[in-house]
Amino acid sequence: MLILTIESSCDETAAAVVDERRNVLGASLASQIDVHQRYGGVVPEIASRAHMEAILPVISEAMTQAQVTLDDLSAIACVNEPGLAGSLLVGLSAAKALCVASGKPLIAINHLQAHIYACRVAFDEELFPCVGLIASGGHTSLYRCSTPIDFEPLGATIDDAAGEAFDKVAAMLGLPYPGGPSIQKAAERGDPKAYDFPRPMLSEKDRLRFSFSGLKTAVRYKLAGVGKVDFASQQIDEQTRADIAASFQEAAVDCLVGKARQALKKCGMKTLCVGGGVAANARFREKALDAAEKYRFKLYIAPPKLCSDNAVMGAIAIERYKAGLFSDLTLDVSPGLLRD
Ligand code: KG4
Ligand code: ZN
Repeated sequence: MLILTIESSCDETAAAVVDERRNVLGASLASQIDVHQRYGGVVPEIASRAHMEAILPVISEAMTQAQVTLDDLSAIACVNEPGLAGSLLVGLSAAKALCVASGKPLIAINHLQAHIYACRVAFDEELFPCVGLIASGGHTSLYRCSTPIDFEPLGATIDDAAGEAFDKVAAMLGLPYPGGPSIQKAAERGDPKAYDFPRPMLSEKDRLRFSFSGLKTAVRYKLAGVGKVDFASQQIDEQTRADIAASFQEAAVDCLVGKARQALKKCGMKTLCVGGGVAANARFREKALDAAEKYRFKLYIAPPKLCSDNAVMGAIAIERYKAGLFSDLTLDVSPGLLRD
């Protein structure tokens, strides 16, 4: 079995060719970070245009690396939810066109499920059943993952995603986009205990919800003073910037690790799989590992390269292929995701 996987849900255009044992025969990725950097975040219209330029070269590169043609493929898989509508449409339209041209079946990929499946690809161990935590720029949510194709939402953020909070706080501190890596770097020289930022929802043990907008506002007030808005012109010294970055990062990481632990307890499960760009955060990985040792659960976090968006995690399509879960060509994109 050989499957071509396509990913274009946000600002990375990616394609990969995988076999039934999750071997990656070819993988290609075009990042748009440089394009969006000057705006401090992803601009949807620009993203979809950049996908249109990149999609065919990226698919072609993955197939060339894998030394396969359309005839060799068993199916073509593509992310159709969730994500930016215009971005998703580019990948899905390309996938459908290839299906029409080749007569191969289409498989729909859920981007969030794929983020969890990145752990399955990276570790090549049976992970299911497990609790899945996704912390990315667009989503922060917990799932009960009974099988690779059976994910039940347990809870999600009620406002910002964790990555969004990293990006916004970085912007407040005058650090470049994407904010996660910038905050992590600045935090290396900072004191995580310098500021006592809130850990929203952590004390709400019976509900698996996240909230990051209050934490973001707490940083803003620390920078500008309560009720004031003009923090941009305020000069802060390097040490204060590093201390705020470290203290914010510590609070955000505590929320993610703490809520994941609560989910494991609630589900009576002993395995946690984490995916999404924020899972690349070094402090998160350190604290999650500490918690796994202390509370004796198995922890899988994909290597940083597979935490951020990529098409290799689309190998989850193998599971759908085996289960006979194909889509017809009327498949549409589904940008949003219902929150609990
Ligand atoms: O999963 P992803 O690549 O794209 C989405 O599906 O959103 O996640 C991107 C997010 C951005 O908000 C970025 O700032 C954050 O992941 N991120 C990080 C780190 N690397 C990327 N956040 C914290 N620490 C990092 N090292
Ligand atoms: Zn993602």
